[in-house]
Amino acid sequence: MTTKPANNRVTHPLDVVIAGTGNVAWHMAYLLQHAGHTLKQVYGRRAAAARRFGREFQCSGTTRPEKIRPDADLVIIAVADTAISGLAAGIPVSEYLVVHTSGSEPLSSLKRFTRHGVLYPLQSLVRGRKVSPDDIPLCVEAGDTVTMRLLSGLARTLGGKVWKMDSEQRFTAHLAAVFAGNFSNYMYTAAGELLDRDRLPMELLWPLIRETADRLHAGKPHDAQTGPARRGDDQVIKRHLQALRDQPGSRRIYKLVSDEIMKRYSTREKTVSTRNGKL
Ligand SMILES: NC(=O)c1ccc[n+]([C@@H]2O[C@H](COP(=O)([O-])OP(=O)(O)OC[C@H]3O[C@@H](n4cnc5c(N)ncnc54)[C@H](OP(=O)(O)O)[C@@H]3O)[C@@H](O)[C@H]2O)c1
Repeated sequence: MTTKPANNRVTHPLDVVIAGTGNVAWHMAYLLQHAGHTLKQVYGRRAAAARRFGREFQCSGTTRPEKIRPDADLVIIAVADTAISGLAAGIPVSEYLVVHTSGSEPLSSLKRFTRHGVLYPLQSLVRGRKVSPDDIPLCVEAGDTVTMRLLSGLARTLGGKVWKMDSEQRFTAHLAAVFAGNFSNYMYTAAGELLDRDRLPMELLWPLIRETADRLHAGKPHDAQTGPARRGDDQVIKRHLQALRDQPGSRRIYKLVSDEIMKRYSTREKTVSTRNGKL
């Protein structure tokens, strides 16, 4: 399937049920209400969480999937990947469209519903921290063309760019997001711990982080790589590794990534590991 932005429209507000009370459920509720749709009900496995969510978004709550309202237009399953199939099995079959929000779960896990699909927000979402709807690309997939029209139309009302893709492409997009988002964030954690060691603030790195991301608009990240490994600077790399002797996790990451950068740019014939033995 060719990946392309979708451009259909939903012209009337939908009645929606959200299953889940975590990060994505919170953002979906916010996006839906912001777009004028009506959140009718939330399902949460813990009564307190469902009540709290219901209070925040002015909707009713239930802890029983079989009580999900059959008159809804749309049910969004936003629970942990491992729980999607099990929960879906307990939701009554009805006319509504049922979607999940996972990057890795296949569309087929919802096939018991006549109208089923996926609405995967390709963004790092944390409950309570609002993100502009424009900054939440929505990846959509559906079981048939009529459902795809409805789902992409709905997604378009929510704000961000809408991308049609199949389960395999979505899986790849999620994998890429792990590198670009999750791993970058872990690198920031490692960087922050080093700065802490010498009582330096994280703020020092903000311009660098922003510039590295902004450069993506100008060209491929491959062409913008800088740093000691890109230059093949053995001496600096050796001193960095020595400075990381008390942080074995960060040291392993530094060595692995430096080796890969050097291999990619062929800055020299041998990598750090072969030159420095056990470094
Ligand atoms: N957060 C992101 O950045 C992001 C982005 C895109 C897509 N997603 C996808 O969106 C989905 C939800 O992610 P999330 O970040 O919102 O997760 P989350 O904040 O951890 O929330 C998970 C929700 O699933 C519920 N849950 C877990 N196991 C369950 C079970 N066995 N039965 C019923 N409910 C169960 C949790 O209930 P309790 O509170 O009771 O544990 C909670 O309400 C996942 O498929 C994830 O891959 C996440």
